[in-house]
Amino acid sequence: MQWKKVCRVDDLADQSGLKIKGLNPIAIFRVGEEFFATDDTCTHAKFSLSEGYVEGDEIVCALHEARFCLRTGRVLSLPATVPLRTYPLKVEAGDVLVEME
Ligand code: FES
Repeated sequence: MQWKKVCRVDDLADQSGLKIKGLNPIAIFRVGEEFFATDDTCTHAKFSLSEGYVEGDEIVCALHEARFCLRTGRVLSLPATVPLRTYPLKVEAGDVLVEME
């Protein structure tokens, strides 16, 4: 596991998500001054969650409106049933870093 710089704090407006491309794309979400990292792919039908809607500390998938907790990845609303993977995240000097394999 290692920390990777994925974006800058200023790359995200409040209540928004940003897709970070990679073999297994992840998404960074901003909620006020808090940041969260999850898989970008919805566990229901593979839609990009960074295109969804951030509501508080929850992400709502834009395709079928499954809802996940950004803090834990827990499913909060069907049709998804499989939790979303989350990643440790830290902010250093305006950089957003995520701990990944
Ligand atoms: S693809 Fe996300 S809820 Fe269906």
